[in-house]
Amino acid sequence: MTIIASLLRAADLPDSPSARLDAELLLAAALGKSRSFLHTWPERIVPSEAALKFAEYLQRRRGGEPVAYILGQQGFWKLDLEVAPHTLIPRPDTELLVEAALERLPATPAKVLDLGTGSGAIALALASERPAWKVTAVDRVLEAVALAERNRQRLHLNNATVLSSHWFSALEGQRFQLIISNPPYIASADPHLVEGDVRFEPASALVAGVDGLDDLRLIVAQAPDYLETGGWLMLEHGYDQAHAVRDLLLIRGFEDVHSRTDLGGHERISLGRLPC
Ligand SMILES: C[S@@+](CC[C@H](N)C(=O)[O-])C[C@H]1O[C@@H](n2cnc3c(N)ncnc32)[C@H](O)[C@@H]1O
Repeated sequence: MTIIASLLRAADLPDSPSARLDAELLLAAALGKSRSFLHTWPERIVPSEAALKFAEYLQRRRGGEPVAYILGQQGFWKLDLEVAPHTLIPRPDTELLVEAALERLPATPAKVLDLGTGSGAIALALASERPAWKVTAVDRVLEAVALAERNRQRLHLNNATVLSSHWFSALEGQRFQLIISNPPYIASADPHLVEGDVRFEPASALVAGVDGLDDLRLIVAQAPDYLETGGWLMLEHGYDQAHAVRDLLLIRGFEDVHSRTDLGGHERISLGRLPC
């Protein structure tokens, strides 16, 4: 028989800043309890079934698999989302896009498009904050579309719609007040692709040509045909791509073009507005 505290001490995950947190999340999930339960009851005996499940989770984590994929869930904004290896694990950085959208647009009715929705993170965060908005979320990967739709249904967000679309292909004739996207933006030879959690995420969610800008170029080029006059385009990109993305926006005729920094001081999103 083992108690919570000694199982956590023995977890032996590879040394990393999140090793203790990872072990706690995995043990809490194996027990079907919260992390605060572990802290409140460190002397509780762990039933053998839960101990076995924890051992299996640890083995997967030692193999490098992200905790979010092991548990099948990840928090984003104020939502708990189901996640799966067909698409990206939503990142806290992407909440910058959600903040910018909530700041820039009024809460009155608006049509909003999330391109490359993955788990539905951005679209569902916006739909949950702005009940008057009609949010369309698209992805090319069918498993991602199904995943975002499951998240939408579980969260009862009836002001969001999830569609299969290759960028704008299913949206002919539609216009939006806001187009928002966290598209793939990593260069195909970027060494980070073979490191850490990213190794387990699909190339379809990460890689965009030789310089990482292929999808951003395409979205900036096509977005004006799907925006209302005065509509916003808001894009996440890599820490070293802000200059290039601002140039793309300016060349395509956007105004009020600027970038915003994350907590680390890196310019991670750029936005622009179609002239009125
Ligand atoms: C970086 S992930 C972002 C996922 C999600 N928006 C988030 O922030 O967590 C990029 C997403 O774009 C989707 N995608 C890639 N190419 C696409 C295309 N041509 N049309 C639509 N979606 C695409 C991928 O399947 C993936 O889900």
